[in-house]
Amino acid sequence: MKKLILDVKDLKKYFPIYAGLFRKEVGVIKAVDGISFSIPTGSVLGMVGESGCGKSTAARAVIRLIEPTSGEIIFMDKSLTDLSKNEMIDIRKDVQMVFQDPNASLNPRKPIWQSIGEGLIYHNLVDNPTDQRDAVANVLAKIGLSPDIMDRYPHEFSGGQQQRICIGRAIALNPKLIICDEAVSALDVSIQAQIINLLMELQETMNLSYLFISHDLSVIRHISNHVVVLNKGKIVESAPTQELFENPKDPYTRTLLSAIPSIHPKNRK
Ligand SMILES: Nc1ncnc2c1ncn2[C@@H]1O[C@H](COP(=O)(O)OP(=O)(O)O)[C@@H](O)[C@H]1O
Ligand SMILES: [Mg+2]
Repeated sequence: MKKLILDVKDLKKYFPIYAGLFRKEVGVIKAVDGISFSIPTGSVLGMVGESGCGKSTAARAVIRLIEPTSGEIIFMDKSLTDLSKNEMIDIRKDVQMVFQDPNASLNPRKPIWQSIGEGLIYHNLVDNPTDQRDAVANVLAKIGLSPDIMDRYPHEFSGGQQQRICIGRAIALNPKLIICDEAVSALDVSIQAQIINLLMELQETMNLSYLFISHDLSVIRHISNHVVVLNKGKIVESAPTQELFENPKDPYTRTLLSAIPSIHPKNRK
């Protein structure tokens, strides 16, 4: 059996709903309601579902940016559930996230070499600014940007370039797993393809694994080896990518597929 980088079992995240003068708990939102999935080392798991189905909550709970209600999370054979805050900081070096809005992810007042390189200092991977800038130059080469631009500020870049910079910050620490939460959703279609190609290239050269989250199946299709379909906090279908697209079993998956006419099985030659 192939080694797993991530193994998630029966993960739940419930948010309490409070109401009234005394903020009494009157119910819960079951944002993530008992999902299990795993990612073999070096592969890409696509997670798809409509807005509000619990994708971001699941991603955050996996790395304990929010505390799961229950469930087990095993990352590289280590259970994350009972780790202390300090132990989790170590783990976060190996698991990086890339979000939807690069503009909001980058500090507008920092030149990009600082944004890309700050984790290197924080995690003691370099101990002086010269080494830090050298490491950033290396990262820039990997993400298709010239090292000459490292003193520029985020607003000087296009959305696609800004997302490259966010990806650069994620790979700077040599992580094992990257969680991409709608990482291309804000970009033009042509730019989306470039960023996906970059991610796939990095996956190969750096032996990365991805949890790739998107509401858009056409995006998921290109990069994923396996896909899980999320609906109202539950996984309704889980299948290898090709199988899911050719023979979707769950009605909800079919609805998602029908939203992209060009790849709907019925419309395809
Ligand atoms: N901090 C929170 N407090 C209360 N409810 C939340 C919180 N975060 C998310 N939710 C709810 O959980 C559900 C799933 O949200 P989310 O994980 O953001 O979905 P997705 O990323 O798939 O769009 C939604 O109903 C959302 O309103
Ligand atoms: Mg989301």
